[in-house]
Amino acid sequence: MKALILAAGKGTRMKSKYPKVLHTLSGKPMIKWIIETVSSVVQEVGVVLGFGSDLVRKHLPDWVRVFVQEEQLGTAHAVMCARSFIDPGEDILVLYGDTPLIKSNTLKRMIEEHRNGAEVTLLTAKLDDPTGYGRIVRRDGRIEVIEEGELSSEERLALKEVNAGFYVFSGAFLLDALPRVGRNNSKNEYYLTDVVKLAQRVRIVEVSDPIEIVGVNTRKTLISLEEFLRRKKIEELLENGVTVIDPNTTYIHYSVEVGIDTVIHPMTFIEGETRIGEDCEIGPMTRIVNCVIGNGVKVERSECYGAVIEDNVIVGPFARLREGTVLKRNSRIGNFVEVKKSIIGEETKALHLSYIGDAFVGRNVNIGAGTITCNYDGKKKNPTFIEDNAFIGSNTSLVAPVRIGEGAFVGASSVITDDVPPYSLALGRARQVVKENWVLKRRGEE
Ligand code: UD1
Ligand code: MG
Repeated sequence: MKALILAAGKGTRMKSKYPKVLHTLSGKPMIKWIIETVSSVVQEVGVVLGFGSDLVRKHLPDWVRVFVQEEQLGTAHAVMCARSFIDPGEDILVLYGDTPLIKSNTLKRMIEEHRNGAEVTLLTAKLDDPTGYGRIVRRDGRIEVIEEGELSSEERLALKEVNAGFYVFSGAFLLDALPRVGRNNSKNEYYLTDVVKLAQRVRIVEVSDPIEIVGVNTRKTLISLEEFLRRKKIEELLENGVTVIDPNTTYIHYSVEVGIDTVIHPMTFIEGETRIGEDCEIGPMTRIVNCVIGNGVKVERSECYGAVIEDNVIVGPFARLREGTVLKRNSRIGNFVEVKKSIIGEETKALHLSYIGDAFVGRNVNIGAGTITCNYDGKKKNPTFIEDNAFIGSNTSLVAPVRIGEGAFVGASSVITDDVPPYSLALGRARQVVKENWVLKRRGEE
């Protein structure tokens, strides 16, 4: 079976420069949500793009077939633009790119129901407030029309059954009906909903939870879904053995995984493809994006992006880990330490005021306060190697490329420009000068 996702519209009501389906929900563009769900139900996925198509394409997996609707003349017209995708001998699922929370089970129920010989199977929902949706008008139990546009107040009271915007069509029926749809409506568009009234055999599946069919037309709706997912995620974590101390100030993307007995403290953001192990303490006031974190890790008041943090590491307070950082077991990164694209070995410590970039640091190394890897020479980034058991005195500049050998010792405040052999002492600073009684002599001169 194939699915066709309509995503050519601009999303005027979003008041945005960007295509609607690229607005993110829990960190992921809406179009990705829908493609992920749909691809678990059908074998082939097509997408109709139009407004901002080049931008949307970048977010699509390469196995998705793309069709272009140059001018957005309505949802039926969008399907028309992909008619080569529709096989007359097969059923096809058609849905919109702005309904991200649909569940695969619901789609499967529709496909099942359609097998009872329907031309169209429609998903519907009963809503207290049907504003913004096509309302289903029945006569003698049969669907007469799907009413679009503004609601009158009587309608608001009477019509609670809405068109969720998910259809299974028999291909032959769809190909036959599409050219018969007119644009005689207030928006002067070809409505896909008008295809439904051309069908003789319509089947209905009612969605059990209306949240699944919420169509995002405005930013207000988008953030209501954001909040829904945020709460749901925290509830799921609480049920699964994770303590989230203050759900009101904790933001965890739906994609995040957290192990049992981990405690998440207030004002913490955990985003993207982050995985956190068991027995960790995360926060307060911490942001973690796309990180993989082991067991027993503590991260306090820190920002971590794209880092791998192994078991029993302590980070922060006030640390910043950037892309490509690997902190090996039992290492510690302390306050005002920035680490970029570096490997920090087991048991190694950098506890105060440092910048470590493009460095390979061995195990059990002590990096003194204020140590800087000078990795950039104005043209390119250069690596620093610090081997096992080395000791870097405070306020040292390591001018890369440079290598500090195993067990070597660098005196405080050194500027190291040459490699230091294993087990040697390196001093790269001016020798101290003491002039005895210099102050008294100067007084005598005055
Ligand atoms: C549509 C349905 C409505 C349903 C609601 C469910 C129609 C006429 N109305 O209304 O019955 O209750 O969805 O959410 O279908 N699109 C195109 N090309 C176009 C126009 C739209 O590809 O020319 C795409 C949009 O990108 C969007 C989807 O179709 O992803 C739906 O369009 P939208 O304008 O959001 O329709 P609704 O007003 O929500
Ligand atoms: Mg919509």
